[in-house]
Amino acid sequence: MAKLKSIKVFAPASVSNVGPGFDMMGFALNKPGDEVQLSLNGGSEIKIKKITGDGGKLPYDADKNTSTAAIKSLLKKFDLKIGIDVVINKKMGIGSGLGSSAASAVAGVFAANKLLNLKLTKHELLEHAIAGEFIASKGIHADNVAPALFGGFVLIRGYDPIDVIQIDYPKDLFCTVVYPEIEIKTCEARELLDENVPLKIAIAQAGNASGLITGLLTKNFDLISRSIIDHIAEPKRAKLIPCYDEIRNAALKNGALNCNISGSGPTMFSFSDSEVKAKKIGRAMLKAVVRSGLKGKIYVSRINDKGPIVL
Ligand code: HSE
Repeated sequence: MAKLKSIKVFAPASVSNVGPGFDMMGFALNKPGDEVQLSLNGGSEIKIKKITGDGGKLPYDADKNTSTAAIKSLLKKFDLKIGIDVVINKKMGIGSGLGSSAASAVAGVFAANKLLNLKLTKHELLEHAIAGEFIASKGIHADNVAPALFGGFVLIRGYDPIDVIQIDYPKDLFCTVVYPEIEIKTCEARELLDENVPLKIAIAQAGNASGLITGLLTKNFDLISRSIIDHIAEPKRAKLIPCYDEIRNAALKNGALNCNISGSGPTMFSFSDSEVKAKKIGRAMLKAVVRSGLKGKIYVSRINDKGPIVL
């Protein structure tokens, strides 16, 4: 069945929630992203041989790592007992809000599909990437794995069954993300959220979510900007980011089309309509991070329309 002996794949970081789209919207970035290398080992077990770039934080137990848990879910479904050695190069912070666990899960299943010549579609790979992501977030959500896998801007219309819709977007939309180097565990950030949402909040959130999708499809930057408001997660989570207000103000003062938390944070993202503006916004956001005594990183990128690629 297998044709290749070894394969290396890059899968991109992603911004999830995108303001009003908690657990249902996300888009992929060109950079950063994780790399995962798989090699057939002639045995019947999945073994993590090496992890770099994680500062020693990630487990080598294949059941506890998002990349290998995703691969194991895939092999189990097809009753395949194939030994694979795995090397994971983390190129972004753990618990950064950039979909780091999702990128590794996606890279793992995408690489396994190619290595074993399974010819599965991305839709068929998705459930296994979600199973991998579950290891880190303890929740079933696809708003990082779906954009990392499919590329582009993705709406998850529903989970039962999963319904992933790719949304067109203006090609001159630039994203700036700033990562203040602290760690926020998604599972802990999810615990802050209320189980129930009052009707008024549900209406406001649905209005903004619909506005954002309409703004993207009609390339209406003003509508995109005024729709990036989150009434559900952000009010509970902003306090986890020490320089939240400062970053947001810096982005808005420099012409950002709004600014919000990326995933469960601490990374924050903003949109703008030119690369020059996006870089200027990035410098201002980073200054706000540094002023608060933290280290930070900025990335400026168009929306990545490819998803994972073989290296
Ligand atoms: N939608 C998820 C959350 C994304 O906000 O908890 C986590 O990266």
